[in-house]
Amino acid sequence: MDLHSLHTHTAGELRRGDIGTTVTLTGWVWRRRDHGGLIFVDLRDRAGVTQLTFDPEHSGGVAFHAAETIRTEWPILVTGTVRERPEDTANPKLPTGEVEVLVSSIEVLNHSKTPPFPIEDDLDTAEDVRLRYRYLDIRRPLMMHNLKVRNDFTFAIRQALHAGEFMEVETPILFKSTPEGARDFIVPSRTQPGHFYALPQSPQLLKQLLMVSGVERYYQVAKCFRDEDLRADRQPEFTQVDVEMSFVDQDDVMEEMEQVLSAAFAAVGVELPSPLRRIPFWEAMDTYGSDKPDTRYGMLLHDVTDVFKGSKFKVFSGAANKDGQVVKCLNAKGAGKWPRAQIDKLEDVAKTFGAKGLAWIAFREDGSVNSPIVKFFSDEEMAAVKAAAEVEPGDLVMFAAGPRRSSDEILGGMRVHMANALDVPREGHDFLWVVDFPMFKYDEESKRYGAEHHPFTQPVVEDLDRIESDPLSVGSYTYDFVMDGFEAGGGGMRIHNADLQMRVLRRLGFDEERAKAQFGFLMEALAFGAPPMGGFALGLDRVCMLLCGSDSIRDVMAFPKTSSGSDLMSAAPSEVSPRQLKEVSLRVM
Ligand code: AMO
Ligand code: AMP
Repeated sequence: MDLHSLHTHTAGELRRGDIGTTVTLTGWVWRRRDHGGLIFVDLRDRAGVTQLTFDPEHSGGVAFHAAETIRTEWPILVTGTVRERPEDTANPKLPTGEVEVLVSSIEVLNHSKTPPFPIEDDLDTAEDVRLRYRYLDIRRPLMMHNLKVRNDFTFAIRQALHAGEFMEVETPILFKSTPEGARDFIVPSRTQPGHFYALPQSPQLLKQLLMVSGVERYYQVAKCFRDEDLRADRQPEFTQVDVEMSFVDQDDVMEEMEQVLSAAFAAVGVELPSPLRRIPFWEAMDTYGSDKPDTRYGMLLHDVTDVFKGSKFKVFSGAANKDGQVVKCLNAKGAGKWPRAQIDKLEDVAKTFGAKGLAWIAFREDGSVNSPIVKFFSDEEMAAVKAAAEVEPGDLVMFAAGPRRSSDEILGGMRVHMANALDVPREGHDFLWVVDFPMFKYDEESKRYGAEHHPFTQPVVEDLDRIESDPLSVGSYTYDFVMDGFEAGGGGMRIHNADLQMRVLRRLGFDEERAKAQFGFLMEALAFGAPPMGGFALGLDRVCMLLCGSDSIRDVMAFPKTSSGSDLMSAAPSEVSPRQLKEVSLRVM
């Protein structure tokens, strides 16, 4: 395609075959070197880098003299001849490394202040400085590469969805609460004092309404807003590739999504296994202690409940004899060599995952055993633990005793922590589905039931009569897409019956009035012949983070927020004028 531009070629384009041609390039002065009479400039644009040579003997020295004045990060336009670099100066690491452009004329397009940090990939500048000058940060080739990967993946997934006859429909940002388990961002209405919009946590309700409308196959690359505590893989504003289908069952949705994902990953050079492995929720919890397991390494959880039923160690026997409680352990190979003080610190780590304590046994390499608890163990108990966890000298075995789910989560957290601490190798990518999530979870603090996925998920039909009597035993038609130990997407089948939706909302603590006020429009719509439906949403930022081998989603977002929710460049959020507040009938306390 003919691209209109001031240049004839990009700075990433010239090769040996171009030698002898006259070209015009534009870009930024990246590095500039004076070499006894010659000036070399690395010219950088988004496509790459080309070496420019300025020779005082060439074209009357005009370009050379101009090049003496230019500084890094000035944008320039140059015209010159492509020539071969002398063999010993070729740069095999650069795609353009065999050639250079001998410049005959240069035009300085603008000046630049000295950037607050070097535009280099290897950078130890604090992230807040990079975010303050994000537009300069994005000049770095690594950041530009990340944005390109994101663009390629997003484009490919749009293409695959379009080919699958999905229709992109935009849905409003100014809307009503669409709960996905976080706090809403709210926006005051000027025309209706005291009334507020909520920004959607996802387009969940709107896409269900589009199914009622007959759109049948919907998608949207959608902005979602969640006011929650931020982490490396969480932003208050993020992007989902949101999908919904009607007249389908769970397998239809999952198979269709596998096809779409497979095409999109292929576009960025990653192969998705087909069919994708499916691990039931409880199997994932019991084996890996996580509903988003990274299965590229072992370090599995072992159930030793039966071993400790008659134990003298009351913490263990107490749990082992209680219904719904377990004693489980995890073997971190290599950590048995750690000094006592380092092992003791692990208890604080376990507490961040909800543990009350962390019992452990270090099997020293000299055959001795170090542990605060083995004095209570019988020989049989010790032998059984060693057999279950396949203990060798140098191993550290950690225990969690208590309710099944929290014990799994504590050891699951420790599993990831130890894998990182021990630098356990994780090669390639790991893709799988976790399926069959429970419909409800119980929150000990608020003493209330919550939805494991969201309140619009279809409970398993055979379990419906236990919604009131035994909610935790009710299953749901749900699936999470897990990539490299991250929840990269999730979805499920939806309730398409108004009465059932009301029953689920009641179980979640809504009375009729509050349910109607918040979700009346949904239940009303479901009563107008809503079709069976299900869908999926891919966390685009997380997938791109993993594709780029980064450990923060900020690295794949052009203008992300800090962990306290600020944009350091524009200084948002910021105060507004008294007049603006008055217009929306608000006063700041
Ligand atoms: P869910 O809440 O699981 O499902 O979100 C889908 C995916 O979005 C990503 N994600 C996030 N990414 C960055 N920052 C965040 N704060 C954040 N929160 C979630 C995750 C997650 O898997 N409406 C349902 C989907 C459906 O049922 O169709 C939903 O939003 O990768
Ligand atoms: P205690 O008898 O409470 O002093 O605990 C003895 C050891 O067991 C300490 O190392 C605690 O950290 C650990 N511990 C306490 N409660 C639990 C639990 N629920 N699961 C695993 N270890 C525990």
